[in-house]
Amino acid sequence: MALLASSVIAADYGHLHTQTNDALEAGANWLHLDVMDGQFVPNLTIGPGLVQAMRPIADTHDAWLDVHLMIDDPGRFVDTFAQAGADVCTVHVEACTHLHRVVQQIQQAGMKAGVALNPGTPLSALDAVLPLVDLVLVMSVNPGFSGQQFIPQSTPRIQTLRRQLNALGSDAFLQVDGGVKPANAKRLIQAGADVLVAGSAIFGGSASISDNIAAFRSALTL
Ligand code: DX5
Ligand code: ZN
Repeated sequence: MALLASSVIAADYGHLHTQTNDALEAGANWLHLDVMDGQFVPNLTIGPGLVQAMRPIADTHDAWLDVHLMIDDPGRFVDTFAQAGADVCTVHVEACTHLHRVVQQIQQAGMKAGVALNPGTPLSALDAVLPLVDLVLVMSVNPGFSGQQFIPQSTPRIQTLRRQLNALGSDAFLQVDGGVKPANAKRLIQAGADVLVAGSAIFGGSASISDNIAAFRSALTL
């Protein structure tokens, strides 16, 4: 079954506890936490303190904390996010000089290791670590902001990665992040993704969070 990760960056920070709780209550599987440093991406967001604050809410719902590090040289903070309670720690291939070492570091710290690719990065950048990783994240927008348009070329990238993971016999998650909506959810799952990240489609707009999540679930079962 497809997993839905609600991207907390798009929530109302003044009502974070209620909104994340609502998302998990309504059936979102993971909380996706976007960490940005103002260097790797042109925005600043949250740090380990907020990840730690989300841990009890995640535990209540048996949900994972999925930390997406959009920061330069992320190895510096892997242990910090492990201590904060992250279940998954994803780093960008573009941000790591020693990608293989960082993947090992994440796993040794007791987390699932994810690697993310920007839309402009060739899939071959993953070749050397693909057999090791626990999750591959295909960015379907240029990272930095919630509410951007899905980049259509992301779909064939997902198909290719799905074939590569299957050929390796890997059970790594294949995650897609950016511009994911009920309208494209089914197509992305059919292309081979198994974790959909959604921010504005869950926390934005005028409908309730639970209605937004129900719209994803019904789109996926059609
Ligand atoms: C973008 C972030 C995404 C973002 C997704 O840099 O990594 O997780 O929150 O937001 P939507 O779903 O609104 O594109
Ligand atoms: Zn993200």
